[in-house]
Amino acid sequence: MKVLGIESSCDETGVALVETRPGGVPRLLAEALHSQADMHGAYGGVVPELASRDHIRRVLPLARRVLADAGSTVADIDVVAYTRGPGLAGALLVGAGVAVALAAALGKPALGVHHLEGHLLSPFLADHAPEFPFIALLVSGGHTQLMRVEGVGRYELLGETIDDAAGEAFDKSAKLLGLGYPGGPALARLADFGNADAFALPRPLLHSGDLDFSFAGLKTAVMTQVKKLGNVCEQERADLAASTQAAIVDVLVAKSLKALKQTGAKRLVVAGGVGANLRLRERLDAGAAKLKARVFYPPLALCTDNGAMIALAAALRLQHGLAALHEDGAFDVRPRWPLAELEPETR
Ligand code: KG4
Ligand code: ZN
Repeated sequence: MKVLGIESSCDETGVALVETRPGGVPRLLAEALHSQADMHGAYGGVVPELASRDHIRRVLPLARRVLADAGSTVADIDVVAYTRGPGLAGALLVGAGVAVALAAALGKPALGVHHLEGHLLSPFLADHAPEFPFIALLVSGGHTQLMRVEGVGRYELLGETIDDAAGEAFDKSAKLLGLGYPGGPALARLADFGNADAFALPRPLLHSGDLDFSFAGLKTAVMTQVKKLGNVCEQERADLAASTQAAIVDVLVAKSLKALKQTGAKRLVVAGGVGANLRLRERLDAGAAKLKARVFYPPLALCTDNGAMIALAAALRLQHGLAALHEDGAFDVRPRWPLAELEPETR
């Protein structure tokens, strides 16, 4: 069975085609992505209306490219999956509308997918896929959560951020350092040239005893430092970047390892855009090794938003009998949609 996946929840238009394999993990046949980062960069953050309009422009050309790259045609598509939420309402509506219209035109069913379930299952697209159960650290621009994953559709929330997400902390600190949008990758690059011990920044909730996170105070601490320095020179900027990255990474690593110890799990899956951070990966790998645990990541290019994870999550749900397919042309989107509210059977 071939599943076309469409992602449009924020500022990336992603399309991909996966094929299910009996008894195996679905195989990625082709994927294509257009990032709107440059367009939004001029405004210092995502402008929702511009995002929606750009998704409209990109989605069909990307779908054509994916089908051509996979050596397939629309007639080969069995199911059209789309991101139903969470995300920007207008942006979600573009992907959902196109997916449901395409499915109706082909006489095939459509399936709405939870964006975070896509991230959570994305390590199954890597050469070395994890086995269930595992602990998942979900770290994106909008979410920071630790979950226990028993199987497809069986997720238990262990802890989450009480304010800003880890990616938000990267982005907001980067903005304060004049690094543009999205700042996470730029801050990580600059951090390579800085001294992580130069500034003593807070590690919020590090010793709270639970698995929750808080990053809002960190951004305030970075702002205070920037104001105190006044004219920030190049080296100070690099030092602040390195110190900020170290503070975020310290907390993410400590809580992830605590989750492993607490549950006795031996596998940790890292997903979401911040999972692309190489310092985070190094520290998690080293920490997990001491616990005789192993860390699994999606392929680097599939850490941030993409269509492959949406097609994959849909295919895995279908394989596990956890999806009610519909061909009635009706659809909705859920801009706010806690993963805990994900019904056992999605439609
Ligand atoms: O998963 P994602 O693409 O979108 C959301 O669903 O939010 O994550 C985007 C987030 C942004 O905050 C971005 O700055 C961050 O991931 N990010 C990084 C890196 N690459 C992306 N943060 C730190 N280091 C990176 N290398
Ligand atoms: Zn995402």
